[in-house]
Amino acid sequence: MDSTHVQQLSTLSGLRLPSGCFITVEGGEGAGKTTLISELEHRLSEAGVPVVTTREPGGIAIAEEIRGVILNARHTAMDARTEALLYAAARRQHLVEKVVPALQQGAVVICDRFIDSSLAYQGYARGLGMEAVWEINRFAIGETMPDLTLWMDIEPALGLQRIHRDGARELNRLDLEGLRFHEQVREGYQRVYELYSERIVRLDASLSAEQVLEQAIVAVIQRFAR
Ligand code: TMP
Repeated sequence: MDSTHVQQLSTLSGLRLPSGCFITVEGGEGAGKTTLISELEHRLSEAGVPVVTTREPGGIAIAEEIRGVILNARHTAMDARTEALLYAAARRQHLVEKVVPALQQGAVVICDRFIDSSLAYQGYARGLGMEAVWEINRFAIGETMPDLTLWMDIEPALGLQRIHRDGARELNRLDLEGLRFHEQVREGYQRVYELYSERIVRLDASLSAEQVLEQAIVAVIQRFAR
């Protein structure tokens, strides 16, 4: 990294991102995605870059309703394929209603989770198979794939410890899965990372929020500031 990049690290000044670039942030529970996304949004906005932040499942009314159905802690009877299809349905609606229009207007879209979540959680950890989950998602998203994915990798035990801290947030149906499930999710992400290493950058999410932000900014600069 040369001195221009080091200067960009603190201010992101002079960073020119291509018009309409799509960045996704992935990781297990308690990885710190929300904090990182809001910091990135802040830095990019300060640098004059138009940014839209959003999340999956959700981000628009219909998908937020689907989110409520999927994550309801009382819905213990939900079948794994039903779960995968609901995530894909929420993804489709969110994409056409919010993500694609924002990209077409030239914004940088930063999305909390996208297709890699389905590959890791439903494809790998739930055992549906990554290829099957890829197929239903191809139907949902067509050709729209992220330009860059930041994978916030953390030991599941540490991530779960963070979210179980008093009042951190309300626990949902997937949070309540055991440690073994979350370890499988991490293994799933590792597989996805190996498959798409040209798109995905791994961040060490066990570090402090500042250090994680720094890694993320380096990844953004290295991917886009050519
Ligand atoms: P969140 O906690 O990051 O808001 O995500 C909600 C939960 O949904 C989280 O446990 C991960 C899970 N999830 C999947 O299992 N598959 C998916 O495709 C997505 C987007 C999320």
